Amino acid sequence: MAPLLTVRIPATSANLGPGFDALGLALDLWNTFELHGADQHGVTVESHGEGADILPTDRSHLVVRTMLDEIAMHVPPEDQVRGYHIVCRNAVPCGSGLGSSSTATLAGLIFAYALLDPQGFRTPSGQNRILTRAFEIEGHGDNVAPALLGGLVIVSAHDGEVLAQKVALPPLKVVVCVPQFYFMTTHARSMLPLHYSRADAVFNIGRAMLVVEALRTGDMKLLQKSLADRIHEPYRLPAIPGALEAKRAALAQGALAVTLSGAGPGMLAFANADHDAIGVAMQSAFAAAGLRARYWVLEVSPRGAQIV
Ligand code: HSE
Repeated sequence: MAPLLTVRIPATSANLGPGFDALGLALDLWNTFELHGADQHGVTVESHGEGADILPTDRSHLVVRTMLDEIAMHVPPEDQVRGYHIVCRNAVPCGSGLGSSSTATLAGLIFAYALLDPQGFRTPSGQNRILTRAFEIEGHGDNVAPALLGGLVIVSAHDGEVLAQKVALPPLKVVVCVPQFYFMTTHARSMLPLHYSRADAVFNIGRAMLVVEALRTGDMKLLQKSLADRIHEPYRLPAIPGALEAKRAALAQGALAVTLSGAGPGMLAFANADHDAIGVAMQSAFAAAGLRARYWVLEVSPRGAQIV
């Protein structure tokens, strides 16, 4: 049976060096979620591809939980009786720093609002509601905003208000390399100081603005000079075996700038050429540290979540 609704949601790379919690890029690697009608009451789920062997198959699955919790906020339990089956086809590796959980949160919200408000959920105000709720649930605006909107997004979220501005970019190809290393975002956040010096804050503000301008204009020389961070990377990179070496190896192979993807353990490299060689060099550096790693050469996706 054809699905009632299919949505594709891209991987994202958050932070982009100095833009901690404020910058994110959508990448051309997609998770696809199908909502099917089902005869039996409740919601069931199956996953294929990335994470299929570890993702839950019950209500605790993030897509199902998000969808049911959202519906429960608007509809009394006796009216929530229809049956659904969700099929997840995942290409975004889980726990990698590529926003896989943001894709699941957004899918759950899109399904919920497609059922609650079939006319309104595609409108700008419907999209805005989905973005705000995704931020409240997920906490990482720099993943959910580019996953929803596509491209490069600047985001600032405070006191229930999510400001998200998409910046148009020329075509851009990046390398992401993901080692097999368990590095939970909550743990990666707990490693960060609670307070920073004014010098470090000022350094990051300037660098983050330069990174946006470099990407907007395709000025890779400016990107090379500006992509540096004092807020998170100095604390996280040393905790990932082989990450410092992978960064050095990528730079030696011609990458212009290398940074953690989100909270890691994945890493993101920008280059004008030799993307595969850079991916292989990073893989070898992780292998020397005892970690298996995979890499992808990906275009930035100007498009975000798509209802197919
Ligand atoms: N900005 C977040 C962090 C991204 O670095 O903790 C998490 O994907």
